Amino acid sequence: GKSLVVAIDGPSGSGKSSVSREAARQLHAAYLDTGAMYRAVTWHCLAEGVDLGDGAAVEHAARTIELGISTKPDHESMTVGGKDVTDAIREPRVSEAVSAVATTLGARSELIRRQRQIIADSGHRIVAEGRDITTVVAPDAEVRILLTASEAARLRRRGDQLGGTQTEAQLQAQVLGRDTKDSTVVNFHQAADGVVTVDSSELDFEQTITAVLDVVRTVA
Ligand code: C5P
Repeated sequence: GKSLVVAIDGPSGSGKSSVSREAARQLHAAYLDTGAMYRAVTWHCLAEGVDLGDGAAVEHAARTIELGISTKPDHESMTVGGKDVTDAIREPRVSEAVSAVATTLGARSELIRRQRQIIADSGHRIVAEGRDITTVVAPDAEVRILLTASEAARLRRRGDQLGGTQTEAQLQAQVLGRDTKDSTVVNFHQAADGVVTVDSSELDFEQTITAVLDVVRTVA
């Protein structure tokens, strides 16, 4: 079929994972959560005692681990060396440490290489989301979207996601702290040339999907 790569970037709490997954379903396309890959490398380093401050060691881990990621929008699954880490990679200790992997350039280039391979394996029919998909992983994607949301909206959503177990200060430290660290290597706050911004601050889930699919329709 015709190539349809939909690249979606955005900060944490923008809702990009659930929105991208549902958009993929409706488009009958594959779905790639690139953040899950950074999380999986982080999980492995924590499990194996790899020093996250040692760039060469982190790069080596990224290059050598066996990652298995589901690209079916209806089936979320991540394995590392055959072990199911689907839930483990969402633990706060992983979220707290993941920026160390994201800012290790050798690990990034390896994950970018793997992500491009997954896009190719999908037959270029995929919704891929992360922080650098529109700019680095798939700058030639047919559709490129920056999904933004106000700080207040992002904190509220992440709070809901975590089931209201966190204080406002904890949420702020998690969501904004991680974005600040990530910002040193990837710019996901401004849309690059040709990237369409969808601001979801005032939109509910369905409206955000509609807005994203409207952008897809203008090109596909
Ligand atoms: O999307 P998610 O919040 O699960 O991403 C986890 C982390 O992975 C981000 O905080 C960032 O450090 C890293 N990441 C990245 N580039 C991507 C996707 C995620 O650096 N394309």
